[in-house]
Amino acid sequence: MHLLVTGGCGFIGTNFILHLLETDPAVRITNLDKLTYAGNRGNLAHLEGDGSRYAFVHGDIADAALVEQLLAEHAIDAVVHFAAESHVDRSITDSAPFIHTNVAGTHTLLEAARKAGVQRFVHVSTDEVYGSLGPHDPAFTEETPLAPNSPYSASKAASDMLARAYFHTYGLPVIITRCSNNYGPYQFPEKLIPLTYLRATRGEPVPVYGDGSNVRDWIYVLDHCRGVEAALRRGEPGKVYNFGGDAERTNLETVHTILDAVGAPRSLVRFVTDRPGHDRRYAMNSSRAKKELGWRPETDFATGIAQTIRWYQTHAAWLDDVQSGAYRQFMEKWYAKERGV
Ligand code: NAD
Ligand code: TYD
Repeated sequence: MHLLVTGGCGFIGTNFILHLLETDPAVRITNLDKLTYAGNRGNLAHLEGDGSRYAFVHGDIADAALVEQLLAEHAIDAVVHFAAESHVDRSITDSAPFIHTNVAGTHTLLEAARKAGVQRFVHVSTDEVYGSLGPHDPAFTEETPLAPNSPYSASKAASDMLARAYFHTYGLPVIITRCSNNYGPYQFPEKLIPLTYLRATRGEPVPVYGDGSNVRDWIYVLDHCRGVEAALRRGEPGKVYNFGGDAERTNLETVHTILDAVGAPRSLVRFVTDRPGHDRRYAMNSSRAKKELGWRPETDFATGIAQTIRWYQTHAAWLDDVQSGAYRQFMEKWYAKERGV
């Protein structure tokens, strides 16, 4: 099976490629990535060069000529589409790149896949398209109406709707996956868990939005990757599959867990101005994936967090590397301006 993976130099794409190449000798992967601030070619550089199982292509999913050429020349069987602008806070500051990549880029990819007649198109999406739950609401199912609240989640919902339309209109064998908040190795340190780790280990204040009572469901990244793989191999075209970690936590609980694990004082917590439109709670009902794909999350939160912290502790050079001058300037300015820390 020859896969085109998009966004394979990002957090989840990197883990997915490593997982698949390790577990299935029959898989070949071409990774198309634009290398935005979130993409790190070095994650998979050790796989480049042998030529037979992994190839990297630097480019934009919204470049129709490039995508069409890749699909035609490489005889791609299936597309697994991770590439996206993925950070809610950035989408609030500037939503244009989210429309370019998440909406126009996904459209370009769907159109090229349709022309090339690929056998499967897995569109990787998020629980955030369902909007926000109250404290006692039942978890999101695949039938929950979409109600996105941020420019990020709106752009993902738009891409989900395009993916759905390409199945219904053109018969493109599209499968949509929606997952809760991931954590684990290679996550860029602008997201809550690696950001907390980084700031805690430097003795810097850890910004918690609002009163810290917003709830997220956390899933270890490898469990998500196994879910995407199951959807690729066994999913039914036209269907949506939810993946959750069965690990709902308030943000304050999550931050405390990390501070305690690295031996940093809880007094580092700073309650800062809340994110505009901040969703209160996400929770996933994954019973369809459990029943129909034989999938379940295998790593509990305590184990996953311990493994993740160990990974960051043993990959200090990776952390230094991804915090380039541009990253540092953006984060420092952004936090000072938007959150006052
Ligand atoms: P990420 O931001 O870490 O990585 C995104 C990758 O896409 C980067 O390598 C970047 O260079 C690449 N990219 C961006 N724009 C591109 C373009 N125009 N053309 C080609 N490549 C481009 O994201 P992630 O956290 O790994 O998320 C991957 C996917 O999973 C996204 O679609 C996201 O919506 C979805 N998702 C993420 C989470 C999460 O918790 N991180 C949860 C559910 C779903
Ligand atoms: P994040 O990792 O940005 O993921 P998402 O917004 O996609 O859920 O944030 C997770 C939660 O943590 C979210 O409720 C916002 C909150 N948060 C903070 O409290 N402080 C921070 O510095 C960040 C980045 C997030």
